[in-house]
Amino acid sequence: MAASSSNKLIIFDTTLRDGEQSPGASMTKDEKIRIAKQLERLKVDVIEAGFAASSQGDFEAIKAIAGLIKDSTVCSLSRANDRDISRAAEALAPAARKRIHTFIATSSLHMEKKLRMTPDQVFEQAKQAVRFARKFTDDVEFSPEDGSRSDMDFLCRILEAVIAEGATTINFADTVGYGVPELYGNMLRTLRERIPNSDKAIWSVHCHNDLGMAVANSLAGVMIGGARQVECTINGLGERAGNTALEEIVMAVRTRKDHFNLDIGIDSSQIVSTSKLVSQITGFAVQPNKAVVGANAFAHASGIHQDGVLKARDTYEIMRAEDVGWSANKIVLGKLSGRNAFKQRLEELGIALESETEVNAAFTRFKELADRKSDIFDEDIMALVSDEEHSHENEYYRFVSLSQHSETGGKPTAKVVFSIEGKEAECEGQGNGPVDAIVNAIESKTASGAELLLFSVNAITTGTQSQGEVTMRLSKAGRIVNGVGADLDIVVASAKAYLSALNKLHSKTVKLNPQL
Ligand code: KIV
Ligand code: ZN
Repeated sequence: MAASSSNKLIIFDTTLRDGEQSPGASMTKDEKIRIAKQLERLKVDVIEAGFAASSQGDFEAIKAIAGLIKDSTVCSLSRANDRDISRAAEALAPAARKRIHTFIATSSLHMEKKLRMTPDQVFEQAKQAVRFARKFTDDVEFSPEDGSRSDMDFLCRILEAVIAEGATTINFADTVGYGVPELYGNMLRTLRERIPNSDKAIWSVHCHNDLGMAVANSLAGVMIGGARQVECTINGLGERAGNTALEEIVMAVRTRKDHFNLDIGIDSSQIVSTSKLVSQITGFAVQPNKAVVGANAFAHASGIHQDGVLKARDTYEIMRAEDVGWSANKIVLGKLSGRNAFKQRLEELGIALESETEVNAAFTRFKELADRKSDIFDEDIMALVSDEEHSHENEYYRFVSLSQHSETGGKPTAKVVFSIEGKEAECEGQGNGPVDAIVNAIESKTASGAELLLFSVNAITTGTQSQGEVTMRLSKAGRIVNGVGADLDIVVASAKAYLSALNKLHSKTVKLNPQL
């Protein structure tokens, strides 16, 4: 047995679960809902919405997503124990289609050193978990964690048993990105050949990108191993070097249909907007040369290439930018646009604000922005809504205003006004640069003592009129958070980003990492 009989490749998106495990990428319930709705628009088959047992926040986000999403299956991760599985089942209860994804480590290293369990105990626990999960849904996925470093005989034994208990998907995890395409594909193929009931389950690949081979390994798992589900994230977001990038899998399989001969249900025209949304919400910028969704992915800088593309596009273009949703920045709204036009554009962008009060607040911000910037693009609207959401989620600190002075040869100074639990505070600071001065000013009041791990500025659109989007990643007492802020003035955006990160640190939401 080699290839699977079906030509349908299931796309399982885990941006909201494995993607969220990236340091600082944690999302609020509202942010998760926005991404889940966009994933549904993208037509992913399965949305792994989180890990219900990890925190009350994750539980509620999964429950809300389960109630809203109609076209995709909604899934929750759970360790292989009754408590986690019951929590997942409870969160998924409102879903039209639900999946419980349970896992346990199967490599000797993980069983001995992490779980401190014998292979027989792991075997029993895996069987029991799948049996229990089947009480809540007939769509149960089982993952042998660190599968690619596990003993083949043990894998055959445990996977045969969980399929017999009713697991309908087996997800062969390359947890630490150790796989090499040919070897990983062959392991999967051997498992499917050796396990007598392997045809009762759909086989899935789940690869991490530590050696930069997550996409290659996933595709080898599909072509050599016969997998018919790929687990992936938008922009390849994920712990350490990330997960398999959804956009790369989809466009590889579509563009090289001659080779893969597989069908995917994804609406590829939604890829770029999904990528931008995830990047904006998590504060993880997309590198310009990133395949498919990087700003340069379709830019032909060299004269020779431009000439070729003008004569015949396919000389240098293997995909069309429009097919993945790239469109030249379109001016969508301006100073004279009214509330209805604004509301309609929000709807077209799939942004559903919950109440008229929220629409009004966003419209007021839009008007303020339109007063300062003549052309408003979709990206501006998305940033504005994100900014609005950040400002009322966990709003312990709120930016009010600032003034800043810098000149050649002098030490920059800043005065920042922000509110602390609704009470205005004013502070001053000096620094080596304007942003340093702002951060020092804010720290003089908040004394957070957090360490700044990352500071990045991105232009949201093109031109010097563009809003700057700033990400600040802070670390304190083992927690890492990202704050994002956008404004025409990048110094203001920096202050907003810093305060947004402090708000996240202040919220103290503790989430359990499923794999620790
Ligand atoms: O990488 C991994 O092993 C996982 C599992 C929970 C599937 O994310
Ligand atoms: Zn993973």
